[in-house]
Amino acid sequence: MKHLVDLTFKHEHPSSVLESALYTLNAPSKLIRYQLVHTLCEDLGLCETHANLFGLALECVHAYSLIHDDLPSMDNDTIRRNQPTNHLVYGEATALLAGDGLLTKAFDLIAHSGYNDHVKVELIKLLSRKAGLSGMILGQQLDMEFEKQDITMDDYVKMSALKTGQLFAAALMGAAIISNDETRLSHYQVLGENFGVAFQIQDDLLEVTSDAQSIGKSLSDANNNKKTCVTIIGVEASIAYLNDLFDDIEQQFSYLGLVGSKTHQLIESLKARKK
Ligand code: IPE
Ligand code: IPE
Ligand code: MG
Ligand code: MG
Repeated sequence: MKHLVDLTFKHEHPSSVLESALYTLNAPSKLIRYQLVHTLCEDLGLCETHANLFGLALECVHAYSLIHDDLPSMDNDTIRRNQPTNHLVYGEATALLAGDGLLTKAFDLIAHSGYNDHVKVELIKLLSRKAGLSGMILGQQLDMEFEKQDITMDDYVKMSALKTGQLFAAALMGAAIISNDETRLSHYQVLGENFGVAFQIQDDLLEVTSDAQSIGKSLSDANNNKKTCVTIIGVEASIAYLNDLFDDIEQQFSYLGLVGSKTHQLIESLKARKK
């Protein structure tokens, strides 16, 4: 993806806000959203590995969400992707603008991609909904509001399906749109949301079972009174819930006829992730 970033950002005006955006975008990360688009396009028969601009667009939105998520007014974190958080290096105002710039860039990338016009419009509609006020942003808002109230596991699942699940759903649904598999979008949506909830449960478990150095980010859930699966049902029950969720995910792969596919293998490889 680094090559694609260099290619698509090289015409931007040199500035500290560009530097700040690239500081987080280029920091070593798992690139799961990019990879999901890539693997599902391959599984569905489209091998244009060079043209994964939608995957890059998703990584831009994801990087923006992390920069803003780490700000003092949100999670107030100090380490992200094994380096000081964006605002600690560039200041809060520039970090805000870098996030705004990455969000805008995502739509620029899609608009200027080589996809046909139908695909471009559908991808723009998809990404704006999934990242927007009824998607990831709503999940982030609930995450903050829940700091001040008691919540149930159902509330937690709803929040996680939004704040984390919607970008995974966008990755799978976007790959389906690019690959002309639009009749099964609702199934990809459910798969993305379930994987998002599973991923968030893993994240919340790692926060209490691992350490900042291993996961490459500071631990702030307890300080922020975050409601996580661990605070709601405890570690053991969270692991059981996670296993059930991965069983459901298996069934969805089976229904989609994608057992053993690259996308299936990618998700399998993340089952025991340590960071
Ligand atoms: C972190 O996402 C934020 C959550 C949704 C839990 P990732 O774990 O995918 O972070 P990077 O992209 O590898 O840094
Ligand atoms: C991050 O959620 C999700 C988004 C940025 C949309 P968290 O706040 O739970 O994740 P980390 O622990 O900071 O990565
Ligand atoms: Mg957060
Ligand atoms: Mg956070």
